[in-house]
Amino acid sequence: MSISDPQRNELAQRALAAREHAYAPYSRYAVGAAILGASGEIYEGVNVENAVYPVSMCAERTAVFKAVSHGERDFRAIAVATINGGSPCGSCRQVLSEFGEDIVVIQVNSDGEIVRQMTVKQLLPDAFGPADLEVD
Ligand code: THU
Repeated sequence: MSISDPQRNELAQRALAAREHAYAPYSRYAVGAAILGASGEIYEGVNVENAVYPVSMCAERTAVFKAVSHGERDFRAIAVATINGGSPCGSCRQVLSEFGEDIVVIQVNSDGEIVRQMTVKQLLPDAFGPADLEVD
């Protein structure tokens, strides 16, 4: 599954803009994400840290959970904006893979440059998924 250049640029810009709202007082590593649903709707997310560090949430999962809460389950692409165009963590890769291995993941740096584009399948090969629970 591929996305058009305008869609890619829009997602990158939305992730960058969302990053302004990141709540990251502990790591100071602000992350913004924007995920495109099959409906055409875009949902943003940011990392939300906590004084109890492990309960913090990543930007990508915030975006996915927000989208799913609005009834969206089919995703085309997600852009992730960080200062250095960093890669999604393992937990976020797992959550994305639940909804599709062909979702395009676009990594964006704080200058708005797209530094890498991969699919979820490339980022998390051989993921544990819904089919693995069909054991009866
Ligand atoms: N973070 C994300 O939001 N997404 C990722 O994929 C990588 C890490 C956040 C978690 C934490 O708030 C901060 O970045 C540093 O790890």
